[in-house]
Amino acid sequence: MAHTVAVVVGSLRKESFTLKVAHALAKLAPPSLKLEIVTLHGLSFFNQDLEATPPADWVSFRETIQKSDAVLFVTPEYNRSIPGVLKNAIDVGSRPPGKSSFLGRPIGIVANSPGALGGVCAAMNLKQSLPGYSGPIMQQPEIYLNGVGDAFDDKGNLVKEALEKVLRQYADAFAAWVDKHKK
Ligand code: FNR
Repeated sequence: MAHTVAVVVGSLRKESFTLKVAHALAKLAPPSLKLEIVTLHGLSFFNQDLEATPPADWVSFRETIQKSDAVLFVTPEYNRSIPGVLKNAIDVGSRPPGKSSFLGRPIGIVANSPGALGGVCAAMNLKQSLPGYSGPIMQQPEIYLNGVGDAFDDKGNLVKEALEKVLRQYADAFAAWVDKHKK
């Protein structure tokens, strides 16, 4: 049976390149993975005062992660790090203490940017936040997609062959990673 993967998208923007990358990955992934896009609209700010009675949107986000076999973060870079909405999702998902929803779930990180560096700093910062609160993070291959600004047509279809190739390679490698850790 296919492993389900929660694809957590780090941008709220309607025409987000990150969201388009996530959809492209969902199309390219091998049949052993079932990718489900998770956007972060409506996820309220983490506030420790609310831990005893968590808001419904936190509960729902945590359940979405817990229902999946693996998590793939697809993120843009904001100010050399990840966007606040994604950090907030990690904070929400990592609680309560010892019960992180990410625990035991193999993790992949896909960074992208219209710029030249492909969101490498975002990916590095994300990797720093996760150990201790997640399952095994796939370290190789790494993927930093640069120049995504002209990678999609006006319907959101991927039109850059080189990018399609690396996304397919990444999806295949992640499928093997998930298989190895979820057997
Ligand atoms: C950016 N952008 C950006 N790009 C980058 O490569 N490195 C960076 O540090 C930043 N910093 C940054 C901060 C803020 C607040 C914004 C709004 C943007 C540009 C960013 O890559 C671009 O806006 C992308 O299009 C954002 O991703 P989505 O929304 O298209 O997925």
